[in-house]
Amino acid sequence: MNTTTYRINLAGASGRMGKAMWPGLAEAPDVDVVGALSRQAAPADLPWTTRWSADATTLLAESRPGDIWLDLTTGEAATAHVPLALEAGLRIIVGATGMASSALDAWRARLETHPGTVLVVPNFSLGAVLMMRFAEEAARWLPDVAIIEGHHPAKRDAPSGTARRTAERIAASRGRAGKSLGDQQAMGLDVSGVPVHALRLPGLLAHQEVVFGGHGEVLTIRHDAMGRECFLPGLLLAIRGLDRVRGLAIGLEHVLGEGTK
Ligand SMILES: NC(=O)c1ccc[n+]([C@@H]2O[C@H](COP(=O)([O-])OP(=O)(O)OC[C@H]3O[C@@H](n4cnc5c(N)ncnc54)[C@H](OP(=O)(O)O)[C@@H]3O)[C@@H](O)[C@H]2O)c1
Repeated sequence: MNTTTYRINLAGASGRMGKAMWPGLAEAPDVDVVGALSRQAAPADLPWTTRWSADATTLLAESRPGDIWLDLTTGEAATAHVPLALEAGLRIIVGATGMASSALDAWRARLETHPGTVLVVPNFSLGAVLMMRFAEEAARWLPDVAIIEGHHPAKRDAPSGTARRTAERIAASRGRAGKSLGDQQAMGLDVSGVPVHALRLPGLLAHQEVVFGGHGEVLTIRHDAMGRECFLPGLLLAIRGLDRVRGLAIGLEHVLGEGTK
């Protein structure tokens, strides 16, 4: 019988993602949300076992080495939190998006010389992870491709972390450079040689199409997140699979097992 309890410090507890994930984390028998970072007032029904703090340093001072720092804030805030949490000996899952590549480079460099775990998951949705995997596969035969992503208007970063990650994986898989877009902005932003278009509109939550053009045919791989609950199963996989991660890893695929076969 597995008796492990994963102690979670949830940064961004009052945000849309924090609020959406908390009930599922609280219900998981092997998860304890022991700390919450938020500058908002604590909710009235906060469990007595959860420390609530507006300050990452204070929260980390009360945490235990081996605890998990789950960062659902912003790219900028996560960039500040990760070195502090590593210093305190915590293992880290970054669900926030929008970090500069220089931040990831700095974490990688640190983790090459110091032990530690940082798992960056641009998208916890299993459907989105499969979309990326299928897109990577399709790009080997249909290398002409564009990405269209759409999100709710409050999303700060554009294009999304998922779109960037999809483009990077396609670029690594297809074995040839993308065609130059020149300076035509309407053709999309060039991400690793893949044109990416970002929509920010009310009514959207999180959506992405990867469109491959072939000889007289078009293949579209599409994913739609219909509600934030789609992120919970992948988040629980990340928490339970974090033991398998060493150093810096990017993507939920690092903790995916063999599926249900
Ligand atoms: N990985 C995934 O599957 C996935 C899915 C959806 C979204 N996301 C990403 O998750 C992040 C949160 O999304 P959201 O929709 O929840 O955004 P949100 O509602 O705007 O919440 C952002 C949270 O970040 C906190 N925050 C902002 N600046 C901070 C700072 N300097 N220090 C500490 N906390 C700070 C806010 O805290 P206060 O309440 O204290 O202001 C708030 O709780 C975004 O980066 C988003 O792109 C990831």
